[in-house]
Amino acid sequence: MKYDFDEIVNRKNTNSLKYDFFKERGKSEKLLPLWVADMDFKVPREVTEALIKKAEHGIFGYSEPKEEYFNAIASWFKRRHGWEMDTSKLVLSSSVVYAICTLIQILTKEGDAVIINQPVYYPFEESIRLNHRKLVVNELVEMDGKYFIDFLDFEKKIVENNVKLFVLCNPHNPVGRVWSRGELQRLARICLSNGVFVISDEIHADFTYPGFKHTAYATLGEEFQGSCAICTAPTKTFNLAGLHNANIYIQDDGIRNRYKRQLAVHGYSQSNIMGITACQVAYSLGEEWFLQLKDYLVGNLAYLRKYLKENIPKIKLIEPEGTYLIWLDCRNLGLSDKELSNFIKTDAQLWLDDGYVFGSGGSGFERVNIACPRSVLSKALERLAFAIKKMEKK
Ligand SMILES: Cc1ncc(COP(=O)(O)O)c(C=O)c1O
Repeated sequence: MKYDFDEIVNRKNTNSLKYDFFKERGKSEKLLPLWVADMDFKVPREVTEALIKKAEHGIFGYSEPKEEYFNAIASWFKRRHGWEMDTSKLVLSSSVVYAICTLIQILTKEGDAVIINQPVYYPFEESIRLNHRKLVVNELVEMDGKYFIDFLDFEKKIVENNVKLFVLCNPHNPVGRVWSRGELQRLARICLSNGVFVISDEIHADFTYPGFKHTAYATLGEEFQGSCAICTAPTKTFNLAGLHNANIYIQDDGIRNRYKRQLAVHGYSQSNIMGITACQVAYSLGEEWFLQLKDYLVGNLAYLRKYLKENIPKIKLIEPEGTYLIWLDCRNLGLSDKELSNFIKTDAQLWLDDGYVFGSGGSGFERVNIACPRSVLSKALERLAFAIKKMEKK
């Protein structure tokens, strides 16, 4: 079956954060939204059918996943990422950010230092600050449009601040790097030798562009297994964010038990029946849909690349190796963060994510979500090109 990702699905009046909260978030209704990381595509038909069946059953009592659920996850990760996981080490979570906060709580005390590579998905910083831990930033280094880790600074900051925990974004949102096995091993060795536990957020694992391969942190080596937690979720891959489902892999029995206890402290126990249903069906039956989706995104990226080159050469594409969240270098426009933000909203009539919200190193950038029909992307780019021409004429 051929899926139609060009179809425009009206998301208005569906409680969509992207389409129904302009006023609440201080934005004009006229803006075209390409910010928050969900997709404008319908999920695989098999997932919708399974959810309809559940809905028609008409009873939504307390629910827990069975063995088939865990096997579907394990089979996906083995097939797609060569990771043979022991399903007894998986713990359910309502979301990845919830798991990150919970892990921060059990692995560190108030005031302890936690390190991240900014610019990075902004809830990392928020999770650290809201839990009253000390934020330590190892800023990524941009060279000729590609980002690298400054390993010397990473280790120096760990030692100087007595860092206890590292939250890694693998692949990286927003700079689009799919970290290589070598880079990950170097990070892992530094963390191991300095007693730093690693949370590897792998929610974007499935989105890699041709030529790039995701490395699951869990496959780096036996020696690193006891001091890491891997956050996986079907929610980005299959567009299920509203169903709140994530699966966290914690190898160490002691830490996994403490994690489960902390869930009880939060009063969280059984999971959402729609979330577990969608997760199991998507991982079991959604692969063909996903492969077609990936091709479509490759097409969107090619469209964006060509359009920028031909019509908006001042904005540079940071060539992504993974994720559908694209990092645009707007520094040549010569605008301050506030001016750039206003320009995007007011002149280009777009709702993007401003680079500075991703922390150190984010100034002068914008993040655009290309998981939308190509006609929407095209409209957004036309708005941007028009606004820039107008600015240049002034
Ligand atoms: C790196 C990363 N982690 C986590 C999330 C959110 O995951 P969840 O909705 O499961 O908290 C996102 C969403 O954009 C993300 O980009």
